[in-house]
Amino acid sequence: MANFFSNLFNKQSPSVMGIDIGSSSIKMVQISRKNGHAVLETYGELALGPYTGKGVGESTSLSAEKIIEAVNDMLKEKEVNITTRSCGLAIPFSSSLMAVIDMPLATKKQLEQMVPLEARKYVPVPISEVTLDWYIIPKDKNSEPLPDNDTSTVGSQKLEVLIVALHNDTINRYKNIVAKTGLDAGFFEIEIFSTIRSILDEEVEPIMIVDMGASTTKLYIVEKGILRSSHMIDRGSHNITDELSKSLGISLEDAEYLKREKGVLGEINGIALKEVATFTLNYIFSEASHVVMAYQKKYNKNVAKIILVGGGSALKGVVDVAKDLFQTEVVAGDPFAKVVAPAFLEKVLRDTGPEFAVAVGVALRRLQELD
Ligand SMILES: Nc1ncnc2c1ncn2[C@@H]1O[C@H](COP(=O)(O)OP(=O)(O)OP(=O)(O)O)[C@@H](O)[C@H]1O
Ligand SMILES: [Mg+2]
Repeated sequence: MANFFSNLFNKQSPSVMGIDIGSSSIKMVQISRKNGHAVLETYGELALGPYTGKGVGESTSLSAEKIIEAVNDMLKEKEVNITTRSCGLAIPFSSSLMAVIDMPLATKKQLEQMVPLEARKYVPVPISEVTLDWYIIPKDKNSEPLPDNDTSTVGSQKLEVLIVALHNDTINRYKNIVAKTGLDAGFFEIEIFSTIRSILDEEVEPIMIVDMGASTTKLYIVEKGILRSSHMIDRGSHNITDELSKSLGISLEDAEYLKREKGVLGEINGIALKEVATFTLNYIFSEASHVVMAYQKKYNKNVAKIILVGGGSALKGVVDVAKDLFQTEVVAGDPFAKVVAPAFLEKVLRDTGPEFAVAVGVALRRLQELD
């Protein structure tokens, strides 16, 4: 059932896995460490559409039972041959709530009291129902909390704090999936942080990551490794399939095939595929452009680069469409850049692997945790 697989190396120890349960497919990536390098062992993807009467590439919203069935199917898939259960799981951005809040300069102890109180204003459910995490966004030397014994300048300046809330029901849903699939999960993390880990190096300037999924596109602006801004656009790659199907009068299945085969290049029956696809792409990239401009204006800094990831960014020709619409450098992300893979696979991974950015990032964290 897995439509994309590879079994590359003999097993090494210890092996760990990153799992990304996306709306259109589950991705798993298994890696291990050898001579200080993360080494790719195997990876695979399983489309979720067929679990609910939909096609490959369509987004779903499956019950926990169906997800458990799909994860179990994937773990059994001989051709992918996942051999470890030691893993981490990504939680969708859409299940999280994030906000950047201003706090007065204070000691860490004081902030531990103050941040949850302030967060109440941003979290639409009782704070007791969520798990809250927060990080101080470093700006300059004044963006550290004060030492505990120094309250002399409390309140004199502002700190920016990123708050991240996950509903306890979401966490319980994932705990249940883990329990029913026999996984040994070390952590759950919101997919943004996984993508940042696999895609970014130590860039200092602001970078925007555009994760093009099936029915939504997620935008993250990251500066010095810290998430600064996040947005979701309600269009994704499946909208292109939909439009191809309608304008060419073909089935969704054929349209999906055509999209993956030709991307925005070429034409069918005198209709340029680019014309059809730009409908969705223009919408997505102009929304993204607004986010870039708003950020630049607010912080008076340029976004230096835009990196495309997600299955939707595997569309042939998409980078050029994006380049025409942004005034900023646009590149395709390379999720496997931080793992060693055999040379003959390098091009394949670069061209067909952008949907693995999240799963690779999760696997890399699990590997770090074993150190
Ligand atoms: N080679 C390809 N060319 C064009 N589009 C592709 C290609 N491969 C996958 N896609 C499209 O990418 C989309 C899926 O992307 P991805 O797997 O990143 O989404 P997801 O993680 O399931 O969704 P989300 O993150 O929004 O929950 C599908 O709509 C699919 O048609
Ligand atoms: Mg995804």
